[in-house]
Amino acid sequence: MFPYRALLAVLPIYLLAVGATPVNPTSGGTGKITLGFVARLNAIGISSIADADRARIKCMRVKGGHIKRDVSVNVTNSAVLYAAQVSVGSPPTEYTLLVDTGSSNMWVGANKSYTPTSTSYYTGNTVYVAYGSGNFSGVEYTDTVSFGNGLTINQQSIGVATQSQSLSGTGIDGVLGLGPADLTQGTVSNIDTVPTVVDNLYSQGMISSAVLGIYFVPASDSNSGELTFGGYDPSVITSTVHYAPITDTSSSNLFWGYNQSITYGGKTILPNSAGTVDTGTTLILIATDAFQTYQSATGGVMDNATGLLRITPSQYNNLQTLSFHIGTQTYDLIPNAQIWPRSLNYAIGGSSGSIYLVVHDIGYPSGSGLDFTNGYAFLERYYSIYDTTNACVGFAAIRYTNSTSN
Ligand SMILES: *[C@@H]1O[C@H](CO)[C@@H](O)[C@H](O)[C@H]1NC(C)=O
Ligand SMILES: *[C@@H]1O[C@H](CO)[C@@H](O)[C@H](O)[C@H]1NC(C)=O
Ligand SMILES: *[C@@H]1O[C@H](CO)[C@@H](O)[C@H](O)[C@H]1NC(C)=O
Ligand SMILES: *[C@@H]1O[C@H](CO)[C@@H](O)[C@H](O)[C@H]1NC(C)=O
Ligand SMILES: *[C@@H]1O[C@H](CO)[C@@H](O)[C@H](O)[C@H]1NC(C)=O
Ligand SMILES: *[C@@H]1O[C@H](CO)[C@@H](O)[C@H](O)[C@H]1NC(C)=O
Repeated sequence: MFPYRALLAVLPIYLLAVGATPVNPTSGGTGKITLGFVARLNAIGISSIADADRARIKCMRVKGGHIKRDVSVNVTNSAVLYAAQVSVGSPPTEYTLLVDTGSSNMWVGANKSYTPTSTSYYTGNTVYVAYGSGNFSGVEYTDTVSFGNGLTINQQSIGVATQSQSLSGTGIDGVLGLGPADLTQGTVSNIDTVPTVVDNLYSQGMISSAVLGIYFVPASDSNSGELTFGGYDPSVITSTVHYAPITDTSSSNLFWGYNQSITYGGKTILPNSAGTVDTGTTLILIATDAFQTYQSATGGVMDNATGLLRITPSQYNNLQTLSFHIGTQTYDLIPNAQIWPRSLNYAIGGSSGSIYLVVHDIGYPSGSGLDFTNGYAFLERYYSIYDTTNACVGFAAIRYTNSTSN
């Protein structure tokens, strides 16, 4: 871990946006609520985003059909970290928590320590979540959790860190797990499955459906993203929302998994396959055979410094549309959406004049049951909706869908 900490000391953390921008809940107080979140460039693991993304996916695959203790994934290895401000206790202590749809426990205390208050109840249970390189262990409390503007949960299970390697050096206080509740199995002693924050907002009547909407903006833009509990934010989408069911295919079905096919320039590179959408993955990872087809079609060469495919300006000019076919809809990534933001090349060890592709090899052939992960590179172009109530995921265009800011 030491080299990572040393790196952190010399690299800037690129703060894209700070501050909550709450939107009034709809009438009756049981509609939905939106809050802003902080996005910052992660100084940990940035020299090898693709390796970190692959390690995270490997962790997801291992879980297929075998939910045990190792039920979560690396949380800090993405190049861009999103964190939300969450208050715990009464009087409240505010924590900066990582927004992670690939894990489902909420915990605090990695940097700012937990202060029990009148609403804190120590359950006597222990909590352990493995994230691969690091892990979290602590004790379970239930406490009041609030997201601002009146959105409050009573008796939310939270982990309070006694040891947490996984976030060291980031300044982030813990994790806000927004994945399916299944992923909490075996993480808290004496409890089978722990209701997630979204489950509790719903069961306590704060939101009218167990739905989460996530809006990211390109890292090269200065605006903040936002989380919407109970629905989506119609003010930031520019198309209708279309949904796809959670897939039956293991191990994608443990996560926010669904089926899609991928074409490049109209030619199929990945047939209809199961995979996931994940805020904790930076790139778009696709099965090795699909990736090889994409690499030869684009002419990209593997760049040693960044671990990403590098293309020349003339190859960039010849890039074709990369299309994701989900349900009845097609979600296009224009050429500019297929490249790493050039203004942030420095942050991944790249050179300023170079062009790097954000599509990468998942590390194994198609047919695995988890053949792609649409990470942040996809999510900065399309709004995403995680619907527990109807067991589906949804996507919609945003004003950045065809942005050329990269
Ligand atoms: C977690 O990330 C570290 C890099 O920080 C990597 O070495 C490790 O293999 C990853 N583990 C898993 C299981 O993803
Ligand atoms: C959790 O992480 C610590 C520190 O890296 C390590 O010593 C410990 O073995 C890990 N626990 C498990 C159960 O892997
Ligand atoms: C960790 O928390 C302390 C306050 O408890 C704060 O001053 C410090 O800035 C935090 N560290 C980082 C890296 O954010
Ligand atoms: C989803 O893809 C998997 C292959 O990964 C396939 O076996 C399954 O039938 C597909 N499901 C649907 C509903 O198309
Ligand atoms: C890139 O890596 C390859 C294989 O590891 C090596 O042969 C080559 O010399 C490296 N190139 C540069 C410019 O470092
Ligand atoms: C993006 O541009 C393509 C043409 O390249 C167009 O077909 C599509 O409708 C545009 N999408 C949005 C959301 O503006």
